[in-house]
Amino acid sequence: MRSSKPKCLFSLFLFFLCFHLLLHLSQAQEPSTEGYTCSINETTTNPCQAYAYYRASAPNFLDLASIADLFSVSRLMISKPSNISSPTSPLNPDQPLFVPLSCSCNSVNASMTISYANLSYTINEGDTFYLVSTNSFQNLTTYQSVELVNPTLVATDLAIGVTAYFPIFCKCPTKTQTQNNVSYLVSYVFQPSDNLSTVASRFGVQTNSIVEVNGNNTQPFDTIFIPVTQLPELSQPTVVPSPPSNKTERKGVITGLAVGLGITGFLLILAVGVLIFGGGLVKKRRGTRGDEEKNQNLYKNEKGDKRAKEMEVSLMADVSDCLDKYRVFGIEELREATNGFGENCLIEGSVYKGNINGEVYAIKKMKWNACEELKILQKVNHGNLVKLEGFCIDPEDANCYLVYEYVENGSLYSWLHENSNEKLGWKTRLHIAADVANGLQYIHEHTRPRVVHKDIKSSNILLDSNMRAKIANFGLAKSGCNAITMHIVGTQGYIAPEYLTDGVVSTKMDVFSFGVVLLELLSGKEAIDEAGNVLWASAGRILEGSEEQKAEKVKQWVDKELFLESCSMESIVNVATVAIACLHKDPSKRPSMVDIVYALCKSDELFFDISDDGSSAPPVRAR
Ligand SMILES: *[C@@H]1O[C@H](CO)[C@@H](O)[C@H](O)[C@H]1NC(C)=O
Ligand SMILES: *[C@@H]1O[C@H](CO)[C@@H](O)[C@H](O)[C@H]1NC(C)=O
Ligand SMILES: *[C@@H]1O[C@H](CO)[C@@H](O)[C@H](O)[C@H]1NC(C)=O
Ligand SMILES: *[C@@H]1O[C@H](CO)[C@@H](O)[C@H](O)[C@H]1NC(C)=O
Ligand SMILES: *[C@@H]1O[C@H](CO)[C@@H](O)[C@H](O)[C@H]1NC(C)=O
Ligand SMILES: *[C@@H]1O[C@H](CO)[C@@H](O)[C@H](O)[C@H]1NC(C)=O
Ligand SMILES: *[C@@H]1O[C@H](CO)[C@@H](O)[C@H](O)[C@H]1NC(C)=O
Ligand SMILES: *[C@@H]1O[C@H](CO)[C@@H](O)[C@H](O)[C@H]1NC(C)=O
Repeated sequence: MRSSKPKCLFSLFLFFLCFHLLLHLSQAQEPSTEGYTCSINETTTNPCQAYAYYRASAPNFLDLASIADLFSVSRLMISKPSNISSPTSPLNPDQPLFVPLSCSCNSVNASMTISYANLSYTINEGDTFYLVSTNSFQNLTTYQSVELVNPTLVATDLAIGVTAYFPIFCKCPTKTQTQNNVSYLVSYVFQPSDNLSTVASRFGVQTNSIVEVNGNNTQPFDTIFIPVTQLPELSQPTVVPSPPSNKTERKGVITGLAVGLGITGFLLILAVGVLIFGGGLVKKRRGTRGDEEKNQNLYKNEKGDKRAKEMEVSLMADVSDCLDKYRVFGIEELREATNGFGENCLIEGSVYKGNINGEVYAIKKMKWNACEELKILQKVNHGNLVKLEGFCIDPEDANCYLVYEYVENGSLYSWLHENSNEKLGWKTRLHIAADVANGLQYIHEHTRPRVVHKDIKSSNILLDSNMRAKIANFGLAKSGCNAITMHIVGTQGYIAPEYLTDGVVSTKMDVFSFGVVLLELLSGKEAIDEAGNVLWASAGRILEGSEEQKAEKVKQWVDKELFLESCSMESIVNVATVAIACLHKDPSKRPSMVDIVYALCKSDELFFDISDDGSSAPPVRAR
């Protein structure tokens, strides 16, 4: 016989259990912790469009890019329904957003179907199903439901980098609701400070209609569904333009601009993706690297305990293909080179400048799934692509470091849009365009399977000491063509429209982004302005009309800097023609990189026809 104490506790437990069951039964629909049951027959369409009400929150979700990543959508898909004019501006804590969900009724086992949006999520260090559900997803799902949807994952033993599916609770309108003009159900997490009438008025609906869908026993942190005919207009704080200090402006633009979406393998890479900005590398005489050095570095980290060693071995197995080609650096070596990854060596994002045995490198720190980039770079070798010199794996914190040549003159972006003392001349711009076109032609035509960079933009184009261009940051690149992706990645202002709408990946999306870079070179304007207007939208009409009208319009539009030198109008019009062809809405009508390289060479000749100053002209004109 047990003592009476546990018995009493047990009865109490039973009591609560019954109480709970009763509560649940009394509701319009059972909000099980495992999810909301559904039946395909009841809904008008399956899957359907739904929205989640999400609050921006510190520290990780204060910009649209990271929230869009989390939900595998583009920033525009959030900014539009949320009444945010500039998708790149930072958000305030608690700022409300409508995030679109593709909601469907899914069977989780033979007897249960629940309604949710299926989101993939890559497990990071420290993540548990509970923490990700309650923090990142703000209780729009529960860990119990996550366990149900991921039967093959062991909740107590999640490996970093593994993909889990998070079922974000949502509902599709029933036939009756559709008849009553309900277009969407918005998933809303009930807050401790809410009551039904405040929620109803926020969404412009009757309290009744919320109770009809959710019952009258809503508890804090339950997900409830608000039936709406149209989304209410959110009032957003007006964006205070940042002070005209160049520094802060750039930061904002970068955080906004750079990160694309991509969830699965790309999430972490993205986080660092922004980066290589300032950095580049050149100056390298290589040659003194021997096999012994490699082996020595490989096992340099003797301090690591046995487990770390095992992990290192398994990580190494992943990249064993690369071992012959690249130098393997030791983590101690990199720490020493970068002053312990100190602030003073930071170039941008998570890219550091490091000096190893007198040679300068750009060192990018990332989580282990950097391997994607490694696999791509392994296949390519061209003077107009930034060269990977080696890599390093730190088994202790599962970080990976990619070591690149250092390209000393920084990014094209900073030359065009930040550096106000020195401006690029037309000839330099033409050479940069031709270099980038050559690099792209190489990855499109001479790799098998073909590689698509997916994130061509002026900040990913680095300039060496001779102002020749190299394409950097293959973090988003994809090999294989015409794949369809669910996770939109890339940078607003450069993304091809067909990719944004259908997720079609092809070499022609790089052609489009390259067209935008040409526009930047021609106009000196940024690909997307402060107000969120994209440059390519304004370029379409400049080439309409007679030759004379054309020349006049182009003159109005191009960078005034270019007129300070005697450059050929014909050459400028020629490049503008190439740019506009690259931006054709229909990807099949865009020229290939081969055609573009040819057309740009022609511009170069035109230029030299006019100003026969030969190749000795200084690449940069100081003002
Ligand atoms: C749903 O429809 C199928 C056939 O269309 C039918 O067999 C099934 O009984 C229906 N289920 C419900 C719950 O109405
Ligand atoms: C389906 O899952 C639910 C929730 O875990 C469980 O209660 C039910 O017994 C399961 N049914 C079957 C047939 O496995
Ligand atoms: C969720 O999506 C992944 C792929 O994105 C798919 O493999 C998985 O089956 C989906 N789960 C459900 C229940 O639809
Ligand atoms: C989610 O719910 C838990 C309680 O279940 C609460 O402690 C936590 O603060 C909630 N998270 C958010 C972001 O509201
Ligand atoms: C639905 O909308 C239509 C047209 O806007 C209107 O005529 C109809 O009365 C509405 N139905 C309900 C139930 O509100
Ligand atoms: C809901 O909250 C508002 C303000 O917080 C209050 O004025 C109102 O009386 C509350 N309504 C109910 C039904 O509690
Ligand atoms: C909640 O709903 C139940 C049945 O639907 C009803 O009996 C009860 O009075 C309601 N409670 C409130 C506070 O409206
Ligand atoms: C968006 O928010 C602003 C600022 O709160 C507001 O003035 C405006 O009416 C809202 N709606 C639209 C469609 O911009």
